[in-house]
Amino acid sequence: MGNDARQGPHRGIEIRPITHEELADWDRAIALGFMRPHVAPATQWRELLFEPGRMLGAFDHDGPAAANGRPRCVATFRSFDTGLTVPGGALLPVDAITAVTVNATHRRRGLLSGMMRHDLTAARERGAAAAILIAAEHNIYGRFGFGSAAPLAGWRVDVLRSGGIRAGLPVHEGHRIDFATLEEFRKHGPELHERWRPTQPGAIGRPEAWWRLRVGEVDLPGFDWKQGFTAFHRTADGTLTGMLNYTVDDKWDGSYPDCPLTVRDFIALDRETANALWAFAFSVDWVRHVVAPHLGAGDVLPLLLADPRGAKPHEESSDFTWLRLLDLPAAFAARRYEAPGRLVLDVTDREGWTAGRWALETAADGTGRITPTDDPADLALDVSRLGTLYLGGGSAAALADAALLTELTPGAAVRADTLLRTARAPWNPDGF
Ligand SMILES: CC(C)(COP(=O)(O)OP(=O)(O)OC[C@H]1O[C@@H](n2cnc3c(N)ncnc32)[C@H](O)[C@@H]1OP(=O)(O)O)[C@@H](O)C(=O)NCCC(=O)NCCS
Repeated sequence: MGNDARQGPHRGIEIRPITHEELADWDRAIALGFMRPHVAPATQWRELLFEPGRMLGAFDHDGPAAANGRPRCVATFRSFDTGLTVPGGALLPVDAITAVTVNATHRRRGLLSGMMRHDLTAARERGAAAAILIAAEHNIYGRFGFGSAAPLAGWRVDVLRSGGIRAGLPVHEGHRIDFATLEEFRKHGPELHERWRPTQPGAIGRPEAWWRLRVGEVDLPGFDWKQGFTAFHRTADGTLTGMLNYTVDDKWDGSYPDCPLTVRDFIALDRETANALWAFAFSVDWVRHVVAPHLGAGDVLPLLLADPRGAKPHEESSDFTWLRLLDLPAAFAARRYEAPGRLVLDVTDREGWTAGRWALETAADGTGRITPTDDPADLALDVSRLGTLYLGGGSAAALADAALLTELTPGAAVRADTLLRTARAPWNPDGF
């Protein structure tokens, strides 16, 4: 039994990495935790993702044993390493957290807290500069030092009211858009995504398993895979510069077509490619709505329309990717800054990992660093708020107005925004 199993808030419950043999129990616990019927074991998918030490389980030694005679798995947690694009294009090594569940029978006994501490401690030891996750509910992860860092701001566009994409937008002369087969999507998609990633702060890697799931190669019970359409954009010399992946629902209003086209994946290496791909999406016959749920904040799609009022914010637009800084010097040296300056931050951190007074100094060449200091602080904030600001999308002035950070010298929040904010918002389109 793990060393914290017999004492502490989760008495009798052992939190530890699962073994390969425990994958089936762990899979069942996830279904229970996410309140999904366990229709069939997701063995193939879990096998693909299995990494020793990175899938945690909580095992109840006091309760009735599972059917196999072993203690029941009542909570789950998984993490994997990925690179997070930061402003300037560097890939920051981060710990990506997912599959967080606690059975309804075992909630509010500190199991999530125990698993989180276990994982983040190990992540720091591995050298992860930050951890990221996607929160099911807004109020779960702030206490662990996470802040909302890259929200989603999708759109639902009425094609007729919007008048479609404006004519005359710049496009690559001689470009082509062609449908790709599933095999072509599988072959060229990863390479295109790898070229796109450094151009978009907030983007993360797409592991092999991500692509296998998206082409229907892996069976994941409960994952509603539907073969969509993939259109590749190429410049006149044949270079692949963008991709649109979408589904169309066969919906009719009497004898009139009323189909929604839902964008599942939109990758464009430059503005001209994005313009051409949007124009294509809006030109598909029978389509009355273009629905793009997974766009980043500040996406210009409405401004491309003849009538922007034809676009309504997508109902799922909300906080999406959350970030928890683990190593401030590594994280702040990795990103680039749009203005030079200096600001002293007094950071609180429940775990103590990033707590203290820090001087952020940025130079005219875009580089910057954060170092410990004894100077008086300009801003006092929790590490979760610094996580909100780190990728350049959050606003210190807004956080100050909302009493979510404290200005210690007048105007410090606006100065923080000058240093930390970026002209283009961070965006991670991928759930994980
Ligand atoms: C969210 C979930 C993982 C929390 O697990 P848990 O073991 O009950 O959490 P803990 O007991 O460690 O709670 C730690 C603290 O977070 C708070 N908390 C936990 N879940 C919360 C929620 N959904 N909303 C607000 N606060 C929450 C607890 O009240 C506790 O507060 P305290 O430190 O002030 O006492 C669990 O309720 C769950 O599995 N929910 C359904 C699936 C889900 O949403 N998973 C998350 C996917 S991102």
